Amino acid sequence: MNLGTPLSPSSLRVMLLGSGELGKEVIISLQKLGVEVIAVDRYANAPGHQVAHRSHVIDMTDAKKLTDIIQLEQPHYIVPEIEAINTGVLEEIEKAGSAIIIPSVKAVQLTMDREGIRKLASETLSLPTSGYGFARSLDELRDVILKKVGFPCFIKPTMSSSGKGQSKIHSEAEIANAWDYAASGGRVDQGVVIAEGMVDFDYEITLLTVRAKDSKGVITTHYCEPIGHRQENGDYVESWQPQPMSDNALLKSKEMAKKVTDALGGLGLFGVELFIKGDEVLFSEASPRPHDTGMVTMMTQRQSEFELHAKAILGLPVDTQLINPGASAVIYGNLDAEAIMFEGVDKALAIKGVDVRLFGKPQSFKKRRMGVVLAEGKDISEARSKAQQAQALIKTKVQ
Ligand SMILES: Nc1ncnc2c1ncn2[C@@H]1O[C@H](COP(=O)(O)OP(=O)(O)OP(=O)(O)O)[C@@H](O)[C@H]1O
Ligand SMILES: [Mg+2]
Repeated sequence: MNLGTPLSPSSLRVMLLGSGELGKEVIISLQKLGVEVIAVDRYANAPGHQVAHRSHVIDMTDAKKLTDIIQLEQPHYIVPEIEAINTGVLEEIEKAGSAIIIPSVKAVQLTMDREGIRKLASETLSLPTSGYGFARSLDELRDVILKKVGFPCFIKPTMSSSGKGQSKIHSEAEIANAWDYAASGGRVDQGVVIAEGMVDFDYEITLLTVRAKDSKGVITTHYCEPIGHRQENGDYVESWQPQPMSDNALLKSKEMAKKVTDALGGLGLFGVELFIKGDEVLFSEASPRPHDTGMVTMMTQRQSEFELHAKAILGLPVDTQLINPGASAVIYGNLDAEAIMFEGVDKALAIKGVDVRLFGKPQSFKKRRMGVVLAEGKDISEARSKAQQAQALIKTKVQ
């Protein structure tokens, strides 16, 4: 692996497709290694745009626009950060060998919607999951729930994230509303929803799993310490690391993560979401990129999930070592407005072991993630309480 000089004939160029807060940190990590980075998103001044060498605003589901931008920029690596991308274009590029898709087109295609990854995990790899079924109409959904999945259950668009379009229902009377809500909440209107039986877990984790080359060039799997998290309405509000687990549950979790990431292939970091009850582990979903709950690693690990992803992509060795326990807490917009301001960051930072990231999103919504608080502690309980305390001190307002 040769690294070059950005903005020169020797530059190594990486294009991010999707440039939100997670992409922004990946870009910063790549730039620490002198990589030339091009950030693409669907709106102007996205977080990653603000730290990249160049930026573009396009609809990434549009084949022609995506092809044009790739031809213009000639990246060596293309790193998808979101699901709503025209994967046909990526397939052509991988076939032609003109750029490397991270981690691989197969992985991007299998994880772009819940159907691909769920069938891979449950049907191909025989991993335990919640009971589930897919539906393409309201009648089909009713059928799947009544005959197979049962109540309570979760209804989700197959293509969505952060809990968008997701609802939990308890009775037949709620099915029609859940169908309408899922149809309106999907990222790309595919009209397919998944019904999942509710898992009565003790806790849930994200197991960050990295496929990286070792010093001999052999792809090796590395695991970060498990990250525990709390979700509200399908959106993460708080995470901590390391989540205490029994040896047995941790071993099973790693085995599952290994199977899934081996099947997805390529180089990079994956977020593997698992539900744990006692020693039982159920697979939930996986994404081939840094995970929102993993922002805590900016405070806890020698190399954050973003640095791990950047290094793994480039074929460099990685170090997943935990330095100290930590926690993260989400800062929501709390109001619908443009160009919001944040007060109380000074008070939050006065708490020892606390740090803050503000993403710089041009527009705020009440439930939009605008920043995150990070905290370290002697144990996760202290770290969580510091993160909560600091988060409560930060207020959003209009000018
Ligand atoms: N079958 C289930 N049983 C119990 N809880 C569930 C189930 N499905 C989802 N949840 C809860 O909802 C959360 C979000 O679900 P899921 O991860 O499928 O959605 P998502 O939109 O992809 O969210 P994100 O993008 O934030 O990971 C889970 O982390 C879990 O807390
Ligand atoms: Mg999830």
